[in-house]
Amino acid sequence: MSDKHSKHRSKYTLDRQIPGAFEGETITRRRFMTGSANAAGAIATLSFTLPALGLALGPIFKSTPHRWETVGKVDDFAENNYVPVVMTLTPGIGEAGNTTVYVRKRNPAIDTDRHDRDTEFIAISDRCAHLGCPVRWVDAAERFICPCHGGVYNLLGIPVGGPPPRPLDRFYTRVVGEYVQVGPRFSVDSELRRFSPRYPAEPLDGIGQYLYPARPGAQK
Ligand code: FES
Repeated sequence: MSDKHSKHRSKYTLDRQIPGAFEGETITRRRFMTGSANAAGAIATLSFTLPALGLALGPIFKSTPHRWETVGKVDDFAENNYVPVVMTLTPGIGEAGNTTVYVRKRNPAIDTDRHDRDTEFIAISDRCAHLGCPVRWVDAAERFICPCHGGVYNLLGIPVGGPPPRPLDRFYTRVVGEYVQVGPRFSVDSELRRFSPRYPAEPLDGIGQYLYPARPGAQK
């Protein structure tokens, strides 16, 4: 019977003529050392990759609570022009959490998108859909203009020039008593169909809505 299959095979590496063997060393010891080194390496790697992954992926799964903020009285807004209002998008971080929203009354002559009680007023985000620069409403031209790369949007927030890949985001609105409140943000495609909020540079037309799906924690 070969040595390999012998029941009484020596436990010492030297006896078994393993290259690099030392006197008194056993296979079990060598495996223990290799396993310990691998385990230590794995623990060290996980100790810095897991926190980094948590930080990177955590916000994706975090759902944003619905907030409604009063931005003015019903009569403060007209059908044919936007009024800029400042609202808090991220509470607790001071002015950095504020954003400008352009608000006007819904105008049936031009607003042909889906109409329900959450869109009595049109509230448009100032965050450019290209890379997120703040856009500005220019009344004389009836355009939203982005200073960064020349993005131009029409009265409805639909891009008519420059690189933006989709219309400006919008916010739900509601009327409470005589006051207008602005609520959660949503994104729209070029036909103003609603989608849960997307990041800038994420198109929603055609295959774009599948290439850039909603974040798990996002609410439509
Ligand atoms: S960020 Fe507005 S056009 Fe680039």
